[in-house]
Amino acid sequence: MGTPHGVLGTWVVILLLHWCGLGEASHQVFTELQSVSPAVVDTKLRTGYHFQPPKHWINDPNGPLYYKGIYHLFYQYNPKGAVWGNIVWAHSISKDLINWIPLEPAIYPTKPFDINGCWSGSATILQDGTPIILYTGIDPKEHQVQNIAFPKNLSDPYLQEWVKPDYNPIIAPTVRLNASAFRDPTTAWLGLDKHWRVLVGSKWNKRGKAILYRSRDFKNWTMVKHPFHSAVNTGMWECPDFYPVAEKGKIGLDTSMHGRGMKHVLKVSLDLTRFEYYTIGTYDHTTDRYLPDATAMDNSSGLRYDYGNFYASKTFYDPEKKRRILWGWANESDSVDADKAKGWAGIQAIPRTIWLDPSGRQLLQWPIEELRTLRGKQVHIRDKIVKSGDYFEVKGIQTAQADVKVEFDVSSLNLEKVEPFDYAFSNDAQALCKIKGADVKGRVGPFGLWVLASSNMQEKTAVFFRIFKAGEKHVVLMCQDTTRSSLSPDLYKPTFAGFVDLDIKKTGKISLRSLIDHSVVESFGEKGKTCITSRVYPSLAIGSDAHLFVFNNGEENIRVSKLKSWEMKRPSMNEA
Ligand code: FRU
Repeated sequence: MGTPHGVLGTWVVILLLHWCGLGEASHQVFTELQSVSPAVVDTKLRTGYHFQPPKHWINDPNGPLYYKGIYHLFYQYNPKGAVWGNIVWAHSISKDLINWIPLEPAIYPTKPFDINGCWSGSATILQDGTPIILYTGIDPKEHQVQNIAFPKNLSDPYLQEWVKPDYNPIIAPTVRLNASAFRDPTTAWLGLDKHWRVLVGSKWNKRGKAILYRSRDFKNWTMVKHPFHSAVNTGMWECPDFYPVAEKGKIGLDTSMHGRGMKHVLKVSLDLTRFEYYTIGTYDHTTDRYLPDATAMDNSSGLRYDYGNFYASKTFYDPEKKRRILWGWANESDSVDADKAKGWAGIQAIPRTIWLDPSGRQLLQWPIEELRTLRGKQVHIRDKIVKSGDYFEVKGIQTAQADVKVEFDVSSLNLEKVEPFDYAFSNDAQALCKIKGADVKGRVGPFGLWVLASSNMQEKTAVFFRIFKAGEKHVVLMCQDTTRSSLSPDLYKPTFAGFVDLDIKKTGKISLRSLIDHSVVESFGEKGKTCITSRVYPSLAIGSDAHLFVFNNGEENIRVSKLKSWEMKRPSMNEA
């Protein structure tokens, strides 16, 4: 299915295509709106510190890289309107990943091999330090082909101009491949044999797959016969990402790194569900095979970076701070008409540092440390009991654009007496949260935050935990419930959810951090174990009318051991 646009409209299109038995991606959904540029952009719910261009549509982050002291972010952009279409690689640069300067688009359709679109791809830094971009072009036959682009002037740290050699495409679909499901090349990595490898996302019937190509010179690529990895009934694998992670510690690894003490991660974005999943596994450099560990599912019920509105993500290695950074796109959840009226659609989530949890079973994520430079006025609360059915407001700062961290202490409670866990939901946290919403009383929980709440609480987005007992163990559920986030109709208001892999009986505590930014809430449960991003569009809880509360709808009293909340300043965000 096509790249999504206002979510409601997209769901309708997706369902219609399914009902009609048409499965192929068209990416041509709202033709008549693709070049409708707004006279004035509506700023009411625009984000204050998230990555956004001044107007129009954006989707996937592309080719993030670090070069000569500068971070670069490219992204899928429609220069003419607020719905998907006319896609180019827009380009912004930054010294801190927080303040961004816009440049002219780096790659746009000019040649037969990309005349119908310049779609997603990745950057690779060659051994001599030269950055190279691989991207998907749409050719005159609407076939998806992989192209290469080089910087015109390597002494320009801004990498303003890119050259697309005429020998493109460097990888074209053969007859045995599906030419309309063949895209989004990864960052390439160097094998022990000094040959490059790259993955391209694809599918065959309903089987999603990553196809491996090898090259000695980065110009001539040969397909490797065995698919690098594939999984039944997962559909088209968009935006695959493949990289090593250190078994111990937070340090990031260059994509070409090999040796002991590391695992590999394969992430894919599922066009069928519009969610991503990843596996952690072992990559054999000599046989070029990837084998996921048996600790998680290798399908749409698998591990997610984010259980909410977060898609087409991509990581890159930051050699400056020796970390791996994750970028992901948070689409709008309002209607296409609303996007057209606003004049903008899509943001990038706050970049996150990503590393392997000491358990080896999952990844951990945390907003990059530079985000703290935006923190302003703060409030600090310690040791506060929130009685059953009670709540309190966090006062003294504005909270429409804020960063809040809270720790809940349940160590004095009898956790043996919590609600029993229904194993039917073992692979579906979202279905469980739908039933056990923020207002459904439990024993321990739901407790958490109401963010972007109106003063009378007609509007509020709930971010909360709930604890269950499953045999000898406990199950911790984290939910982000937007069902009451706005009085406006025509909004997609899902409850997103994930389980938190935490031995709550042992820790006695659980923490939450939420980045609140007018129309987005990005939450990090238990230090980045479970992350959930939601888009919300309050009609009352806007600007200084947005409030923040701590609530407890469980039968047991909860102790807030500490809470800190900061107002967030505005960085310079792509202002011309
Ligand atoms: C993911 C995606 C990619 C494609 C791009 C087009 O959102 O569909 O597969 O390259 O968007 O904009």
